[in-house]
Amino acid sequence: MESSALASASSFTSATTLTGRGLSHLPKSYILPPSERPNCALSTNSSNLPIIDLSSLQHPLLRSRVVQEVRLACKELGFFQVINHEIPPLVMNGALDAANAFFNLPSEEKMQLMSDNVHEPVRYGTSLNHVKDKVHFWRDFLKHYCNPISAWIDLWPSNPPCYKEQIGNYAKAVHELQKKLMELIFESLGLHPTYLKEDIEEGSQVMAVNYYPACPEPELALGLPPHTDYSLLSILVQNQQGLQILDQDKNWHSVPVIEGGLIVQLGDQMEVLSNGQYKPVIHRATVNSETCRISIASLHSLALEKKVGPAPKLVDKQNPLSYKQGSFADFLNFISGNDITAASFIDTLKINK
Ligand code: OGA
Ligand code: NI
Repeated sequence: MESSALASASSFTSATTLTGRGLSHLPKSYILPPSERPNCALSTNSSNLPIIDLSSLQHPLLRSRVVQEVRLACKELGFFQVINHEIPPLVMNGALDAANAFFNLPSEEKMQLMSDNVHEPVRYGTSLNHVKDKVHFWRDFLKHYCNPISAWIDLWPSNPPCYKEQIGNYAKAVHELQKKLMELIFESLGLHPTYLKEDIEEGSQVMAVNYYPACPEPELALGLPPHTDYSLLSILVQNQQGLQILDQDKNWHSVPVIEGGLIVQLGDQMEVLSNGQYKPVIHRATVNSETCRISIASLHSLALEKKVGPAPKLVDKQNPLSYKQGSFADFLNFISGNDITAASFIDTLKINK
């Protein structure tokens, strides 16, 4: 290990390790200022968040209705859940099980993958950035690249032994689903469904496997702070409730777990591509005192170095060009030098009108 890596490892304590100590109080470094606490009393348990049934896509006549539903959800929230998306429950549960098995490995084993370099293609970590965070977040994570699988799978954890196969099956299935969703979203913007087709096939897929152990005093902490994803779109599966999204009236909604359902969230790059017509959803992860929660977020963008700019068809006199182009790699360079809770990359792309 290099000396900087050593220094960062010595300051590293995972949330899982802390939970294992059976603390009755939250360590000070995790306590949020009162205005940033989740205040769950104020969040609505929403049964009316949009759910889109993709089985209708099998009937060509119903496609336009689905596109309409997608448009509404993207305009209002930048968020929806999908059901009947053709990813078998066995594949989804297999991925969640493999994730759980990884985080249950001994600390020394996981630490071999620890890195705070955001450019690392596979990295284990805790909080957002355990070196830079002023307040820590009650989350451990494993992030890695996925597409194409053959380019990355050798770098993924070889322990637990099921990891590569079960996460690989899920990653491939989600990549297929993402292509279908992108077509629907492009159509809902008035673009051709095959817009950027090849770029999307070859696009980057970053998987964030999140583990939120049971937390003493969950009302004082968060698993992840309010943020948007730097992706075109993200697809997320959670094994239990904990994700919350912010609506246009600034109310938080807990996202219910739907049996077999998957969560779709628009990211910053979709705001750029749509020239501001769609906005990314602001979301956060809450924690609970009873059990660990697992989520797997798959972030889809164009290839790492490929710039995303507003679709030319969405730029005209009424809708002047509002964003400069940016790539996922530009974003990674930006966050490696900034505290993402304080600065936003997309703000640097906005063109003042
Ligand atoms: C993320 C994320 C939310 C969750 O990984 O970007 O927003 O519920 N996760 O874990
Ligand atoms: Ni997110």
